This record gives sequence, C-alpha cells and structure tokens, in this order.
Amino acid sequence: KKVVLAYSGGLDTSIILRWLQDTYQCEVVTFTADLGQGEELEPARKKAEMMGVKEIFIEDLREEFVRDYVFPMFRANALYEGVYLLGTSIARPLIAKRQIEIARQTGADAVCHGATGKGNDQVRFELGYYALQPDIKVISPWREWDLNSRTKLIEYAEQHQIPIAKDKRGEAPFSVDSNLLHISAEGKVLEDPADEAPDYVYSRTVDPMDAPDVPTVVEIEFEKGDAVGVDGERLSPATVLTKLNELAGANGVGRLDLVENRFVGMKSRGVYETPGGTVLIAAHRAMESITLDREAMHLKDELMPRYAKIIYNGFWFSPEREMLQALIDKSQERVNGKVRLKLYKGSVSVIGRESADSLYSMAHVTFEEDDVYDQHDAEGFIKLNALRLRLGTLRDNRKS
Ligand code: ARG
Ligand code: SIN
Repeated sequence: KKVVLAYSGGLDTSIILRWLQDTYQCEVVTFTADLGQGEELEPARKKAEMMGVKEIFIEDLREEFVRDYVFPMFRANALYEGVYLLGTSIARPLIAKRQIEIARQTGADAVCHGATGKGNDQVRFELGYYALQPDIKVISPWREWDLNSRTKLIEYAEQHQIPIAKDKRGEAPFSVDSNLLHISAEGKVLEDPADEAPDYVYSRTVDPMDAPDVPTVVEIEFEKGDAVGVDGERLSPATVLTKLNELAGANGVGRLDLVENRFVGMKSRGVYETPGGTVLIAAHRAMESITLDREAMHLKDELMPRYAKIIYNGFWFSPEREMLQALIDKSQERVNGKVRLKLYKGSVSVIGRESADSLYSMAHVTFEEDDVYDQHDAEGFIKLNALRLRLGTLRDNRKS
C-alpha cells in the first residue's frame, strides 16, 4: 500500500502525512508543486525526510500551469458568475494529473489531498483523479478523521512531534490558496459577507488609494490568442504572468470581493487578487475586438459561462470541456497583434489595439466620404428587417 500525497509542507498537510502513516500504515510519497505560490519548497523536502518519506517529488510546474491550463482558459475569457477568474479552480486539475502520474511511476494505489469536505477543491481533485485513473483509491482525511478543530489539530501535531510555526498556533485568520494566477482568502474574518475585508487580507496588490499618481502603460503582444510578450520583450507564459502581476499589483489592479455559489450547494465569500489575470483578460478581449468575426465572437461569448462553470465545478478532464476547448481554440487562429493598456489606481483601461489580422476597416467606418460602402444598401437592409415588426404592429392595430 502506497499513497501519493499533495504536500505543501505546511502544518495541515504535515499532520495529514503523519495521520496517513498512522492510520493506514502505508508508505507515503509526497508531491510538492511550485505553481508560483511564492513559497520556498525546500523546507517541504526537509520536513518530509524528517517524517521518514523516501520518495519525495518537488516540481516547478509554473510553465506547464500557465501554458496548458491558464492560457487555454483565457482564450475563452472565462469568468465564473461574471467576475471570478477561476484562479484556484484551474490549478487543481494539474495537481491531480501529476499525482496520478507519480502514482503510476511509484506503483502507488492511492492518492490523497488536503481539501475539506465542504468545498469545491475536493470535487476538483477527485474528479481529476477518477477521470485519469478510474480505479484509483482516494483518501480525503478531512472527511475521515475527527481532528475537526484547530485545538485537536495542534494537539495531534504536538503528540507527533510535528513542528508548528508560531503564527500557526492560534486560530488562522482565514484560509489561503495561492498560485501564479491568483491568491484567494476565505473563511474566519471573512465569513460575514456584510463586513469589509481587513487590509491585511491583501498581499499581492497595493491599496488602489496608495497606488502611484501616474498611470503605467503596458503593451501586450498576442499570438493565436496567447500572450507572448510584454512591452516589446518576448516572454514565456509563466514570465508573462509574473511580469503582469508585478505591474498590475503595483497599481492596485485585480482585487475582488465576492459571494459565490459553490458546487456543493452553499454560498461562500471569497477575497481574490488576480492582478496579472485582470489585465490579461481585458487585453485579450481587446485583441479579439479587432480580429474576431462578430458571430464568432458572440458565439464564444454565449458559451463562455458554460465553459467557466465546467472548470469551476471541476470537470476539466471531461468530454464537454474538450469539445468547447476545440471550438475556442479554433476561434483564436487570427487573434494576433498588440494591445496597449493603462493601469491606474485599481483600474485597467484599453488605450490602443493593432493587428496585421485586423478586421477593422477605416475605409468603411469613416465619417468622411468613401467609395467602399453604398449607404443606399442600408435602406433595403433596414426595410426587410423591419418587415415582421411592421406586420406585427399592423396586426395589433387591427385587433384593438
Ligand atoms: N472559492 C474559490 C474556488 O472555489 C477558491 C477556493 C480556495 N481554496 C482554498 N483552499 N482556500 O475556486
Ligand atoms: C476547501 O474546502 O478546502 C477550500 C474551499 C473550497 O474548496 O471551496
């Protein structure tokens, strides 16, 4: 018996590690991923070694995360419930995929995650596991053990010589999930949606009021719908996002305080910071505005909420997500060019767009004289479109 644990190196997953060894008497393989959460990973190795783990996987997945998960999602301009950029939702499938691959490589028959039994993340992890390895065993400690309070957790850690950071002794003020796309905070001080989030919740963006008094102008270059450069410099996917996070964060761009509907049925309040992503989605829409055909654009806009919900609910590895992805990717073939934006005290505004694949026609749109558009054509166009409206009104008048 062997289990692959998604291990952050933090207190909770360290307790899980020891609990797995005790409860299942099994060999534990740890997997720690760098998704750009901004934490040192080497301490996780030391801790795992200390707890007798022999197979330790520590991997930098930042490029894969942005290239194969974040960017495909941004091609759709995906937003859940109108505003949430899905920063946590999109990271879970990648973690699940690597856990399954490591399980195969090490001959493990089970995988384990540290999400609670109340949230979306358990669903996302486990749908991923089962989709990729139908006969995998899943261990979800939070649904199994009786360490249901902070006090019990701390007691368990103390009994088992698990080191506890000083700031973790008391009640954690809220739960955090972080990667290159966003940082989220939920629970505890944020639980009452009537109360404003305290300042200390924010860590990736400055307060817009404290942002510089002069705007930052940034230019993003796109190829086939993906950002490939910033301010004239060609950058890898993860570096694009890192760079945009810096520029946007310094201007207070990308904060969101939201009450959302979890897949498991309850509403929850979250505070999100998605600085780079907020700039990227605005830029991508602007790039599409000159390169996409109207009906192509409207069709993908109609499908977007559906696509976002699929990702939110954890169905990344599903036939319906792959079908929609194929349609979205097809639409991006000519989404090439550059967009300029202004970041200023929490806001992001598009100020210019250009493309060799532009559909925008100055010749057609000019208010001056032109020789490409015959204004008389509009008369018949309007008359035929008005026909059924006229017939309807004539009928109504006849009746009254
Ligand atoms: N509510 C968000 C989502 O479902 C974020 C979840 C964050 N996870 C966490 N462990 N705090 O995508
Ligand atoms: C959790 O329950 O582990 C975090 C919140 C969520 O998954 O929605």
